[in-house]
Amino acid sequence: MNEKLKKAVFCVLVLALAVGGVGVRSAAAQTAAQKSEEFYKNILVMKGQPADLMVPSMQFMEIALGVHCVYCHDDDAQKRELDTKPMKNTARAMIRMVNDINKNTFAGRNVVTCFTCHRGHTSPVEVLPYNGEPARSTAVAPSTMPTVDQLLDRYTAALGGAEALAKIAGRAAKGTVTNYAHLDQVHPERAPTTVTPIDIVAKGPDKRMVVQHNIAGDAVNTYSSTGGWVRAGAAAARDMRTDELDAAKLENAVIAPSQFKTLLTGLRVEGQEMVGEHTAWVVSGRTPTLPSVKLYFDRDTSYLLSVAYRQQSYYCCHAFRIDYDNFYIANGVRMPLQWTVNGPRQAMLVYKLDSVQMSPVEDSRFAKPTAAPAR
Ligand code: HEC
Ligand code: HEC
Repeated sequence: MNEKLKKAVFCVLVLALAVGGVGVRSAAAQTAAQKSEEFYKNILVMKGQPADLMVPSMQFMEIALGVHCVYCHDDDAQKRELDTKPMKNTARAMIRMVNDINKNTFAGRNVVTCFTCHRGHTSPVEVLPYNGEPARSTAVAPSTMPTVDQLLDRYTAALGGAEALAKIAGRAAKGTVTNYAHLDQVHPERAPTTVTPIDIVAKGPDKRMVVQHNIAGDAVNTYSSTGGWVRAGAAAARDMRTDELDAAKLENAVIAPSQFKTLLTGLRVEGQEMVGEHTAWVVSGRTPTLPSVKLYFDRDTSYLLSVAYRQQSYYCCHAFRIDYDNFYIANGVRMPLQWTVNGPRQAMLVYKLDSVQMSPVEDSRFAKPTAAPAR
């Protein structure tokens, strides 16, 4: 095509669009060849793209974030060029970022889009969710809130009181842990995959050992005032990481509630939330290595219904939640006989105790073994 012919075709095209087109703009009719910055008024980052793709791109962003045009644009639909809302500039930064990622990491292919991260929401999720657990709705904001001390005292009283708890020389419990398959497409019915016997030995406020009798050998998880250690199968015992130690302390505080105040800082009552059918007071805090811990106390019975915490990584967090149930009484004190661990990675674990003996336990039980177990 020579230059003259090109121009002629161009003119005919413009004319055809102007006559038959929708939303006719006689001064600057859009053509397939036009770039967005030639047709639109205020294009800073989507330069060089065909103007025709502008509105579909906007619709894509709208759906990817689960918003409407006015989330970023002026309320006057005739003035999309205005920068009256700060979200529009945030979106520009995001468009730049996505362009850079695709250019630098994916050889210019449009692999990453707004939807890759946003998934229909304005804020992408940075915390891995619990395995298959639905989000809980927040109940009506209460007019009066108890204090942290009141909630901890009520829970301690519900367990039998500080005096009765102090008298317990030790506990030895037997039960099982049922490992349910991940709730995913492969295992939609959450079938139990294994049922393994366990032994739990606890003493005082700060000693606890859980032994899981796996076919491949015992898995031992021990926490004492001097530290914590774990051992799996034939491997030698290793020290717990600091976050594992904090999580073990947190779990043990469920039967030794005086430890919550030793372990957690920044304690405060958040308000009420629903845990299943129960209304719970939510107390939040943190440990040096667990950036967010929440305790859910039953408003009516004062029992601890759940302990939720986040485990830190370079990329923010894994969320865990342990739900406690079946508070059983023996020797004047109560303890949960069942608890369910919901985590992002492992399957759902349900611990069930069949028997609990309240009897003295030697301190040496909690010492870290120096040799690997005999096979
Ligand atoms: C997530 C924010 C966001 C949403 C939602 C959004 N837009 Fe935009 N829109 C932008 C940004 C940013 C620009 C400017 C792009 C640039 O500077 O390169 C823009 C530019 C435009 C322009 C060009 C205006 C001009 O003349 O400069 C039009 C037209 C437009 N959008 C229409 C829409 C429509 C219609 C919707 C709803 C279907 C929509 N947008 C939804 C962020 C958004
Ligand atoms: C690599 C992941 C990622 C991609 C891809 C991405 N975003 Fe975002 N976006 C985020 C994160 C993370 C935030 C929240 C930032 C924060 O909390 O400070 C965010 C926030 C935003 C916000 C502000 C939301 C608010 O209500 O504060 C807008 C608007 C937005 N993104 C638009 C877009 C658009 C449009 C695209 C596609 C061009 C896009 N994002 C692509 C990660 C991404």
